[in-house]
Amino acid sequence: MIQPLGGAGTVRPIVAANWKMNGLRRDSRDLAKGLARLKQASGDLACDIIVCPPTTLLFELRDVFYDAEIALGGQDAHDQKKGAHTGDISSEMLVDSGCSYVILGHSERRADHGESSETVATKARAALAAGLKVIICVGESEAERDAGQALDAVGAQLINSLPEEGRSNDIVVAYEPVWAIGTGRIPDAAQIGEMHQHIRQLFKELKSGDVSGLRVLYGGSVKAENAGDILPIEGVDGALIGGASLSVKKFWEICVFYGQ
Ligand code: PGA
Repeated sequence: MIQPLGGAGTVRPIVAANWKMNGLRRDSRDLAKGLARLKQASGDLACDIIVCPPTTLLFELRDVFYDAEIALGGQDAHDQKKGAHTGDISSEMLVDSGCSYVILGHSERRADHGESSETVATKARAALAAGLKVIICVGESEAERDAGQALDAVGAQLINSLPEEGRSNDIVVAYEPVWAIGTGRIPDAAQIGEMHQHIRQLFKELKSGDVSGLRVLYGGSVKAENAGDILPIEGVDGALIGGASLSVKKFWEICVFYGQ
């Protein structure tokens, strides 16, 4: 059983679910309702909960989450407001569907869709202008980690993915080592702590000292079994969770780490 920490940090942590390309309407409604029930029964947790389902489910689930004060997020958004971009959706559309967050630059989008950090920055600019908060993902490959280049690789990604616009309250950074996503492997506590400190320091330099509202999440194989080791690491302001977020029980066990 994970021991609650009780939100001792200076920022309010985030536990975010990334459902990726999973979920049809009926089962997802059950999942959302189960989560909403637990949240409503628990009173105030000392963290914000965000769920980022596939776009097809946003409108279906918005009321369930709204009533439980669970924020809704998209998994990507185009950098234009509208137009001839078949298959894409805009940040305005996410807002219109009830979203207050959007994940940008997830490594699966960088790999599957060739998204560069510069593209991520352009998308982030548009998302902020539309009124969304952005969750910008960065993370090194296994080869970069093995070569001792993790800090440099993540640093370069962050420098190029961060838009000039936006304050620390509106930008969340998710550190997700590519080799840890969906693999069951995670960096050790020292590596996570070092990277989160590096990200915070760089953010501070890039944003002229504005770092007070920044939340840096860890993502990659977070589960109830290891959340108690990861979430207390200094500089870790929550988690972005893929696989384990598809089970109400498993996801909730991570949320309650922040007290009930
Ligand atoms: P995982 O995915 O928790 O399944 O490793 C995390 C992510 O990709 O955001």
